[in-house]
Amino acid sequence: MANRQPIQNQLLEYVKQHEDDDLETSTTNSGNPLINKDASQTIGPKGFMVMQDYRFFDQLQHFDRERIPERVVHAKGAGAFGYFRVTHDITNYSAAKVFSSIGYTTKIAVRFSQVTFEMGSQDTVRDLRGFAVKFYTDDGIWDLVGNNTPIFFIQDGILFPDNIHILKRNPVTHVRDWDMFFDFFSKRPESIHQLVWFYGDRGIPDGYRHMNGYGSNTFSLINASGELFYCKFHYKTNQGIRNLDAQKAREIAGNDPDYMLRDLYNAIASGNYPSWSFYIQTMTIEQAKTSPFNPFDVTKVWPHGSYPLIPVGQLVLDKNPTNYFAEVEQLSFNPAHFIPGIDASPDKVLQSRLFAYGDTSRYRLGTNNQQLPVNAPKRFKNFSRDGKSTFDSQGGAPNYHPNSFGGPETDPRAVALSPRLRYAGDVGFYDTGFEDNFTQARALYQRVFDDAARERCIQNIVYDLKNASAFIQQRQVGVFSQVDESFGRRVQEELGKYQPLHAII
Ligand code: HEM
Repeated sequence: MANRQPIQNQLLEYVKQHEDDDLETSTTNSGNPLINKDASQTIGPKGFMVMQDYRFFDQLQHFDRERIPERVVHAKGAGAFGYFRVTHDITNYSAAKVFSSIGYTTKIAVRFSQVTFEMGSQDTVRDLRGFAVKFYTDDGIWDLVGNNTPIFFIQDGILFPDNIHILKRNPVTHVRDWDMFFDFFSKRPESIHQLVWFYGDRGIPDGYRHMNGYGSNTFSLINASGELFYCKFHYKTNQGIRNLDAQKAREIAGNDPDYMLRDLYNAIASGNYPSWSFYIQTMTIEQAKTSPFNPFDVTKVWPHGSYPLIPVGQLVLDKNPTNYFAEVEQLSFNPAHFIPGIDASPDKVLQSRLFAYGDTSRYRLGTNNQQLPVNAPKRFKNFSRDGKSTFDSQGGAPNYHPNSFGGPETDPRAVALSPRLRYAGDVGFYDTGFEDNFTQARALYQRVFDDAARERCIQNIVYDLKNASAFIQQRQVGVFSQVDESFGRRVQEELGKYQPLHAII
């Protein structure tokens, strides 16, 4: 096995682990012995197949149903398992059991993903990356479904389907359409902060191990006294940030489309376990009221100067999946899965997500998706029963409430830790997408990027923007100019090197 990567040796490892086993005979799905695996049953060697060949149908019917709908976004991904260990006490902010004491350890599942394209796409395309963490806590599942960026393109979930449509394929031509792409972004300037990040160096990480994760949305923490703090989650790579430049990424896309998946698997299989340091930022209710930016707007970061990172613990991945379909494809996350001590906030994108994930999991995996082993909590006790693929009927406990037969009760600790917030306002449709979109995008472009990074960002933009119609190019250049006059000018200059696609309309 010398000179081979661990990911190439899966079948050889299987043989090694099973060399002392007796050879097992094959069966149908119902455990009946197979008679012949190389031939179906026919009338003579050249004749028709016969209807009674149940064993043949058993195999084909299962094959016909092997694929389930892929995720509508984040379809291509890699998963792994490990643990979260607390290194610092944050019980003054949250009474969640997962943070209960230094050294406290919780099992986790992580799925990394790219957002836009399908299951079979190349790992090194320019895109945001998903970094979703499932914590199997003593209080049930906590899903922290983050990305590798602290911000997002939109502020209101009603625009999410549109935002995703323009990133994906044109419904007629079935290829990416740069008119759609920049038409939307140039008309929704709240996207500019994320767009500058997207075309910056972090837009193509050099593997999942070398990128940070962020809960991105604003959450709430509740402590044992019932005090509430708004919060952002950050998980910073201990492997160091590493990115791919655009040219190298295109070469890898051709040579090794599964580059990131392979890297993660090999690292874990070699005992080189990747880890991330986990932090929070917190904001009091009073600070949120007087904040100069909307703390519930996911197109904004919370400046670290005002809201410093508070260390919490370590995320470590030390186990590869034993089967990709069972443990990664069937893994399903839902930002609505909170545990006592952690909750939602008025962040509109988070509020939208609280509906979308459970809904899509029921479509993709069925009503009982949370009973699948990889999704299942340590225990559950409720009044739901039945539905397709029920595994656990809760041992005959009553399925109605209230009852006199020892049925489950509400947990007073969970009641005490549920957030109590007071909000008042006029019900309406508030489009906030045009409020101060440029201050933070400008800080990213002018202060975080250096000259060379700015130039790479411009070249990355022009590589795509040159394919859009001239009038859309002009509108998008106008948005870059509002970030920084020289930014718009440089993009315009570079676009001038290409023939305009058609006139402004
Ligand atoms: C309104 C905004 C959003 C909506 C409606 C939305 C909806 C969805 C949906 C429907 C899926 C597919 C889930 C599945 O099939 O299991 C998904 C996946 C995902 N989303 Fe979002 N999303 C939104 C914003 C975000 C944001 C802001 C983040 C990051 C902070 C994010 C991170 C992810 C990740 C990581 C996955 C993949 C989860 C996995 O690995 O299974 N999404 N999203």
